[in-house]
Amino acid sequence: METVVSGIRPTGNLHLGNYYGAVKSFLQMQNDYNCLFFIADWHSMTTRPKPEDIVRSSNTILAEYLACGIDPHKATIYVQSDVPEVLELYLYFNMNAYLGELERTTTFKEKARKQPDNVNAGLLTYPTLMAADILIHRAAKVPVGKDQEQNMEMARRYARRFNTMYGVEFFKEPESFSLSAKAVKIPGLDGSGKMGKSDGNCIYLIDDPATIRKKVMKAVTDAGPTEPDSEKPEVIQNLFTLMEVVSPRDTYEYFDAKWRDCSIRYGDMKKQLAEDIVAATEPIREKINAYLADTDNLARIARMGAEKARESASKTLDEVRHIIGFKPRF
Ligand code: TYM
Repeated sequence: METVVSGIRPTGNLHLGNYYGAVKSFLQMQNDYNCLFFIADWHSMTTRPKPEDIVRSSNTILAEYLACGIDPHKATIYVQSDVPEVLELYLYFNMNAYLGELERTTTFKEKARKQPDNVNAGLLTYPTLMAADILIHRAAKVPVGKDQEQNMEMARRYARRFNTMYGVEFFKEPESFSLSAKAVKIPGLDGSGKMGKSDGNCIYLIDDPATIRKKVMKAVTDAGPTEPDSEKPEVIQNLFTLMEVVSPRDTYEYFDAKWRDCSIRYGDMKKQLAEDIVAATEPIREKINAYLADTDNLARIARMGAEKARESASKTLDEVRHIIGFKPRF
């Protein structure tokens, strides 16, 4: 059975981008694949979280994922820092990762621009840690959104480089996976290209209906189409992209036709979109608090996940050590 790995940084709550970009694919896959899902708390150290926030942030994400329907008896759910084997593989990949290629990574350049006073080595080697996360379980498929494409490309590169260096066919090159034919990018509501936690343009799964309605009604639009069948400008395309993922197909087609014949009223479209987002997220939101309140249950699930993940990780690591030449001396 093929292995699937996916991860998320525990910085804030889950938003629609996370849900439609990664979680939904994972939900479908948990029945048919050996699925491992982890909370990338080491990755979030690049921005120096406060000690008192570390466990709480992971618990938040854990509760939200469970509320989405990830089943800890089907999939393995764990917290990255509970699986120290990942770090050893990270070290090996770092020994074969070059400064030039790491510096050229778009996310590194972006982050370095955003936090110029804290351009740390962890930020630089983010792609090698991500490669270790995936390859420690020898995963074949990784459900991720479009924004992770370059990191995925790097993971494939480190898999290939390891194989070539040691003349083995040990690691598979992991593929990005998405439910639709192309990678998903959920746009922000502020006219920007992407919904993202650091951009303050998100709808969160935990948002109540009134908050969702307010956010959607404030979404940026324009003066409306003047010519039939014209191309949609980015801000409008963003609304349609959201509608395409959250609304029934005929709703999308109804408003698309209204756009094409220039009779669209953005207020009506936003109202509909808000209701469809509420309908999609409400059942999840109702469950989040119940999961959050039961910290014993969260701890039990995390422990069960860590045990399974460590077993899978140490199997890979034993072989990697052997290939590299670290054979038992005693
Ligand atoms: P993170 O925490 O930024 O996001 C988690 C997942 O949500 C997806 N995503 C989106 N998809 C579509 N549209 C959006 N607007 C949007 N915003 C976020 C991301 O693509 C991602 O799938 N580096 C990763 C975490 C990570 C990881 C891994 C993922 C660390 N190691 C190994 C997979 C495998 C990240 O920062 O995701």
